[in-house]
Amino acid sequence: MKRAFGCKEDDDPTEKDSGQSLACGKLDARMAVERGGLMTARIITVANLKGGVGKSNIAVNLACELGGDTRQVALVDADPQGTSTHWMSRGRYPAKIYSLPLEDERGAQRWVTQVLSIESDFVLIDCPAHSRAVTETALGLSRLAVIPLTASGPDLIATTNVLNLIETSRSIRDGNDLSFLLVPSKIDHRTGAGRRIGDVLRHLGDVVGPEVRQRTAFVDAFGERKWIGDFAPKSDARLDIVNLANAVLTKLEEIERFSGDNEAAQVS
Ligand SMILES: Nc1ncnc2c1ncn2[C@@H]1O[C@H](COP(=O)(O)OP(=O)(O)OP(=O)(O)O)[C@@H](O)[C@H]1O
Ligand SMILES: [Mg+2]
Repeated sequence: MKRAFGCKEDDDPTEKDSGQSLACGKLDARMAVERGGLMTARIITVANLKGGVGKSNIAVNLACELGGDTRQVALVDADPQGTSTHWMSRGRYPAKIYSLPLEDERGAQRWVTQVLSIESDFVLIDCPAHSRAVTETALGLSRLAVIPLTASGPDLIATTNVLNLIETSRSIRDGNDLSFLLVPSKIDHRTGAGRRIGDVLRHLGDVVGPEVRQRTAFVDAFGERKWIGDFAPKSDARLDIVNLANAVLTKLEEIERFSGDNEAAQVS
């Protein structure tokens, strides 16, 4: 599988300065562990190699929903397109935006250092579409990947590719401490595909998060540069984001519990 992502089978994961290692995300995961980055912040990557699936919509609103008085949340906009940065450019938000665009593996080492230096309870990363190297670098730092997917055939193919990246990321870690949540996004229940996606994904079990439906409030909120909790706090759109935030917190608790169990098992 590694070959499919531009890594040679015999790549040496200890070759820290090689661009090839960076492209394959090996250096990043290793650096994160060495610097304790995984301990100081819970890093959540929002990614899909497909464009336009609602990554930035979910990243901005989820970051703001998780943030607030009791929890510090940072959102890293890794996309050179800058959608999240643009969104969070007017006024005050419960999360802090960091514009750290990453085009490809060049500059990845500096980028990793910058992300790991952010002091926050949660760090979310809004990834660009179409870049395996950037997505893999972000996954290398993360505890959880949130993967929006729309109800379309091509989207399901792109999602399979992200799941392969997650497997690659897991294989270079000591444990399986990268979980994922597939989030049906922009779902329109007036269409057959929109109604069926729940059934299509149900067999996957608890890796499927709550739907974020196609709602004009999200588009209008972006137009006003507000997050949904500010723009329409009592709307169905807000409720979608609240449900997603709860699913993310539950997933993180599971991860925490699982790694605690593992540590206990190693000690005993
Ligand atoms: N749940 C939703 N309901 C309605 N419109 C949405 C929803 N989510 C996203 N959109 C709209 O779809 C378009 C793409 O959304 P967004 O920018 O979040 O996707 P993306 O995956 O981040 O795209 P890119 O790959 O270009 O970064 C935008 O016009 C956005 O307003
Ligand atoms: Mg985007």
